[in-house]
Amino acid sequence: MIPEHVAIIMDGNGRWATKRGLPRSKGHLEGSKNLEKLIPYIFEKGVKVLSLYAFSTENFKRSEEEVDYLMNLFTKVLKKQFKTFQANNIKVVFSKREEGLPISLEKLIAKIENENVSNPDYILNICLNYSGSYEIVDTTKKLIKQVINKEINIDDINQDYFLKNLYQDLPAIDLLIRTSGEYRLSNFMLFSLAYSELYFTEVLFPDFSKKDFDEALEAYQKRDRRFGLVK
Ligand code: IPE
Ligand code: IPE
Ligand code: MG
Repeated sequence: MIPEHVAIIMDGNGRWATKRGLPRSKGHLEGSKNLEKLIPYIFEKGVKVLSLYAFSTENFKRSEEEVDYLMNLFTKVLKKQFKTFQANNIKVVFSKREEGLPISLEKLIAKIENENVSNPDYILNICLNYSGSYEIVDTTKKLIKQVINKEINIDDINQDYFLKNLYQDLPAIDLLIRTSGEYRLSNFMLFSLAYSELYFTEVLFPDFSKKDFDEALEAYQKRDRRFGLVK
């Protein structure tokens, strides 16, 4: 079975550059080039939803130089790729906190959301200025408002409804991949990852190739997803 929703924690750009005596920014650039090759490949494989961890709320604690570089890089890549996404019937959505990104990037995001294809074959969910624990807090607040405004009853809130009301209405994640040999979630999509298969690889993100993705898929296909049942 091909996983419907794959999520990737794209980690290791900085170490990739440092190992080569290059500034960390070169690692981010290389990571972004790699990503541009990987996205179409992953959808060609039959994956319907791809979530990418691009920048966490915690990443704002990095140097101003690195944060600025990354914000410019996101802007450039989004501007460059959006037409291709439209042409390939890929809808681009963003999982993010409401505020915090540079105004120009927020504007670009709004424009993309406005011009998205209407009947997509694929969804690309970009997590930018993202925190998994805050997503749960923000969703809880949103649901409380719905109850106060009498749009729903408190008993309408269940696991499915909560999932549907996260930053984006997406299915739960089937397969999570994290590169660079770190074995943690780093505050990524905590609710959507509740029953995902987890795949960790030592490969640094700029080196994470199509073949490496195939290996992750093969590993996923060998997993026995029991969801608590006895088979
Ligand atoms: C992931 O690579 C990209 C972002 C967090 C934006 P890192 O920048 O975390 O690379 P390492 O972990 O320092 O190698
Ligand atoms: C997680 O990577 C965030 C992204 C990949 C965007 P980090 O490099 O920020 O995570 P930690 O610091 O190792 O937990
Ligand atoms: Mg890292």
